[in-house]
Amino acid sequence: MILALETSCDDTCAALVDADGTIHANVISSQGVHARYGGVVPEIASRSHLKLLNGVIDDAFARAGCALDEIQLVAVTQGPGLIGALLVGLSTAKALAASRGLALVPVDHLDGHIAANFLAPDPLETPFLCLVASGGHTLLAAVRERGRWELLGETLDDAAGEAIDKGARLLGLGFPGGPELERLAGEGDPNAFELPRASGLPGLDFSFAGLKTALLYRVRDLGPAQTLQRRADLAASYQQAIVEALVLRVERALEQTGLERLALGGGVAANAALRTRLSETCSTIKLLAAELCTDNAAMIASAARYRPQLAHPDYLALDAYASGERAR
Ligand code: KG4
Ligand code: ZN
Repeated sequence: MILALETSCDDTCAALVDADGTIHANVISSQGVHARYGGVVPEIASRSHLKLLNGVIDDAFARAGCALDEIQLVAVTQGPGLIGALLVGLSTAKALAASRGLALVPVDHLDGHIAANFLAPDPLETPFLCLVASGGHTLLAAVRERGRWELLGETLDDAAGEAIDKGARLLGLGFPGGPELERLAGEGDPNAFELPRASGLPGLDFSFAGLKTALLYRVRDLGPAQTLQRRADLAASYQQAIVEALVLRVERALEQTGLERLALGGGVAANAALRTRLSETCSTIKLLAAELCTDNAAMIASAARYRPQLAHPDYLALDAYASGERAR
């Protein structure tokens, strides 16, 4: 059994997963405390992880009905993410593994989002194209085999989720904006406002900064009263622009690589409009349950199965990384 921890941002997560990818527990405690600030406050995230993590781990063991002595391997997110937040998970993982002389696997967060697609009971066969769209990252990967993927394109500025959260904030919605924006968009006309999708940008990279600025100008031109009145139309148009920007690159990548299967990862992949549009684009598409799209530790356990294990005490000096390094 693998015990995995994920604390890269504002979700405190622990999971127990078998070597064959069967999930026995996948506990996610979302830190609602950030909502009042309109975004994640790094120092508060670290402190909240400290408060929550032991309870979340206990909860995972209780739900799985297993004990610490049944663990053979400890996996943990090493980066990218908020350094203070990552360190809480990494230190806890080291302490748990070292106290029992167990091996530890440091996992790249993005590798985790991709590896969510390998979990039982319905793992996706390689090769496939994977779109990862979250609050911190937006990328397209050609997944050649489990544990080996090639970066095809990524965002040049904001991540899709970041653009969604900032747009939602402009429309007076709470944080995180994705679920609320989706709800409001359902009541509006997606063609009411024309917004840019960076379709002139060639290749497989993404850009959302222009779209975000376009929404800002629309809101300014309309003024507060009109904006409030047309909020649903603005939300629907904005969501559609983001979805179409993502779909355009996925279509290009499918054509360019000849890959026939598509997988989605990251919090934005929970969006129903995106799922529907992509299902039309590719007939073999894997749609994960929402709790496996957003940050979770089961995906970290899954990725750990395909990464080298570090024996005790070789991992004690491991450090977290905020960005850059990427396991492939
Ligand atoms: O992967 P994730 O949980 O955390 C990061 O690693 O960032 O992604 C969070 C992002 C947030 O920007 C959130 O607004 C977005 O995913 N999100 C959604 C939906 N649910 C979450 N975006 C659009 N539609 C949703 N239903
Ligand atoms: Zn994530």
